[in-house]
This record gives sequence, structure tokens and C-alpha cells, in this order.
Amino acid sequence: MKKGLFITFEGPDGSGKTTVSKAVSEKLLSEGYQVRYTREPGGSAISEKIRDIILDPANTEMDPRTEALLYAASRRQHLVDIVLPLIEQGVTVISDRFVDSSIAYQGYGRGIGAEEVFSINAFAIENHMPVKTVFLNVNAETGLARIQANRAVLDRLDAESEEFHKRVYDGYQKVIAQYGDRMIVVDASRDVHEVIAEVYSIVKGLLDD
Ligand code: TMP
Repeated sequence: MKKGLFITFEGPDGSGKTTVSKAVSEKLLSEGYQVRYTREPGGSAISEKIRDIILDPANTEMDPRTEALLYAASRRQHLVDIVLPLIEQGVTVISDRFVDSSIAYQGYGRGIGAEEVFSINAFAIENHMPVKTVFLNVNAETGLARIQANRAVLDRLDAESEEFHKRVYDGYQKVIAQYGDRMIVVDASRDVHEVIAEVYSIVKGLLDD
């Protein structure tokens, strides 16, 4: 049987990543494509429990390396529970975030360093990298303004300083430069319907290839 594809979505908070990746997955599913939307951190029972610990605003004392390890642990469990079995069954997995998020947020945002963060993730993912990554590009100011306007409750990461979110954005630009062959950069500062239409045709193109 033909294996499914592993496609990830990345972007700063407020990039519209979740709205866009869900809308594109649902449209493709309604057209008969074998596609499944999932998200990180979370997406499976154990991973969702780890997500709750990581994002709980009460956990103000969390050490940056503990945070990086928890994201990697959640990623590992989600990969084994959801991503790999579905791909084997021929289903294309669209994951809302994956390892690039850890490089941008923990590696650059928290200042741990991209290589150190990648090395603990290499242990977690064992070479299972996405075939393509759609990056929804909005700068930190636009992203933050959107989440402040739209979210009733901010999680521990959303609530970080503007400087932190700028480091994350700059970190993502370095990830894009490093993994240019894998990354598809989409201007997400536009109206969300325009973004969905563009991303839909990109992902459909990958599935029809
Ligand atoms: P979400 O808002 O896309 O659901 O993600 C939750 C938060 O977790 C978001 O602020 C980004 C952050 N995050 C990391 O810092 N590192 C990671 O590896 C992942 C997957 C998410």
C-alpha cells in the first residue's frame, strides 16, 4: 500500500496556522483524500496531558530545558501513537506544529540553542522528518495583536514578552534558511480565506503528485 505523506504546519502564535490547517484538511477529506489533521503538543491521550503541564500559566517556574524535554516527550508519544501508524495505513498526516517549533521557541526564543534542541529531538523522532512544511509567515507584532484580540485566555507561551516572540520569529527565519528545500513559505498577513485557498492548492498539489 502507498504510504501517506507527513506534512507539517509552522508559524508564530497568531499566524492562523490552526484555522488554516484544519480548513485545508477538512476540505481535502470532503473530497475523498485520506487526510488527518492533528496537533502538537498533544494529539494523543498522553501527549495532551503533557501539553496541559507545559501550557499551564501556573507553571511559572518551569526551567527552559524541562520545557524543551517535555515538548520532545510529547512529540515522541504523538509520533508513535498517531503519525507513524496513519502514514503506514496510507493516510496523509497534517500536523499543526512539529520539531521546527521547538527549534524556534526553545532553541531561539528561550536561547537554549538550535543544535542542542535539535539533538534531544533527534532522539525523540529518529529521522522521521516531514516531507514538506508549510510556514505561515506573519511577524511577531501582527501575530501578537491577533492573539490579544481573539483569545479569551492566553496560555503560558502566548503570554510571553514581545521580545520572546520576536526571537521566535527570527529563529523561524533561520530555520527556513537552513531547510529551504522542505519549507513552503506563505504570506499569512492576508485575509484568512486567501491564505486557505493558497495552502489548499499547495497541499492538494503534494497529494496529487
Ligand atoms: P499552539 O498555540 O500552536 O497550540 O501551540 C502551543 C504553544 O506551544 C505555542 O505558543 C507554541 C509552543 N510550542 C513550543 O514552544 N515548542 C514546541 O515544540 C511546540 C510544538 C509548541
